[in-house]
Amino acid sequence: MRGSSSLFEPIRVGEQDLSSRIVLPPLTRSRATDTGLATSLMAQYYRQRSGAGLIIAEGTVVLPQATAYPRVPGIYSEEQVASWRPVVEAAKSNGSTMYCQLWHVGRQSHSSVQPDGLPPKAPSTVAITGQQYRSPGGPVPYEVPRELIEPDIAEIVDAFGRAARNALRAGFDGVELHGANGYLIEQFLDDGINLRTDKYGGSIANRMRFLEEVLQEVFEHVPPHRVGVRLSPSSDWMDAIDSDKRTLFSTVIRRLDECGLAYLHLVEPGIAGATSAEESSSAIPTSELAQLFTGPVIVTGGHTFHSAQELIDRGVADMVGFGRLFIANPDLPTRFAVGAPLQEVRKKGLYGGAAEGYTDYPSLAAEK
Ligand code: PHB
Repeated sequence: MRGSSSLFEPIRVGEQDLSSRIVLPPLTRSRATDTGLATSLMAQYYRQRSGAGLIIAEGTVVLPQATAYPRVPGIYSEEQVASWRPVVEAAKSNGSTMYCQLWHVGRQSHSSVQPDGLPPKAPSTVAITGQQYRSPGGPVPYEVPRELIEPDIAEIVDAFGRAARNALRAGFDGVELHGANGYLIEQFLDDGINLRTDKYGGSIANRMRFLEEVLQEVFEHVPPHRVGVRLSPSSDWMDAIDSDKRTLFSTVIRRLDECGLAYLHLVEPGIAGATSAEESSSAIPTSELAQLFTGPVIVTGGHTFHSAQELIDRGVADMVGFGRLFIANPDLPTRFAVGAPLQEVRKKGLYGGAAEGYTDYPSLAAEK
């Protein structure tokens, strides 16, 4: 039963006991090396935030083609697995549990970061027009993607499985599939993006096939109770357009509920990608979707201590993610516990660079 617990109360997720319901959600910070290796700076960053009950590592790519931006970490090579080990150890040093978010961006990538220098592949040849690609030289239009053929899809499904196995080998407790924010998994789900006429397109069951195949492959390596899925059912960021998101995501969540997952992770309607947005009239209340899932539900998106506690009290969420607050307040759980003032996020250093804007936010103890 969800409801009436404190944010600070422990919770069981899968077969693990988390020390609290306070979650560090996945945040792209672009501090890996150019070849997707995790770094000692990342270890320091996660260690600073090791007071979270659950840490979900930033989006980590399952293949070289899966990336959108430079300096995003990967988990497909042995070298990458080795590079993550000290980072995971640091993150878990305070008793946290840590999951790895497995990421493939599909059409949100760009030829400039594709291994073959060609436009990225996606379910259909539909380009993003509502936003621009964040290239090192400034925003540029997204390209028309190439259509994935069946062998491409099989390769990606395999890669998710290998990445999941690698994540456990690197010390992660589990994996989260990034099915939110218009990335590859959602590109298959949405009928405004997926125009396929084969078994991966058309009906909701067909559009869910890619997600189902990824889950089945991941389950070959990682038990369901160590697998979470993240969705953003109300967001149309990156042209994530569907004719009936309420039916689509209700169906997806009911199906996920049958899998015995570790958790479902929902992004709030008022969040678009990494920023706050107008809540559209078609937004689906998080409470409505959360009640379709019987396992633990994490809700993330612009929450404060009080709004988070209220979500738990109302039985909407079991756990709450705090992205921006955790960027600026490495010891956020301590600050919450003592009612200390919170530091503001600085824009500089959000993406890329070195320590500035990343590991230089002081803890309460260091402030004094
Ligand atoms: C971002 O880099 O802005 C970003 C990455 C992953 C997301 C959303 C936003 O899911």
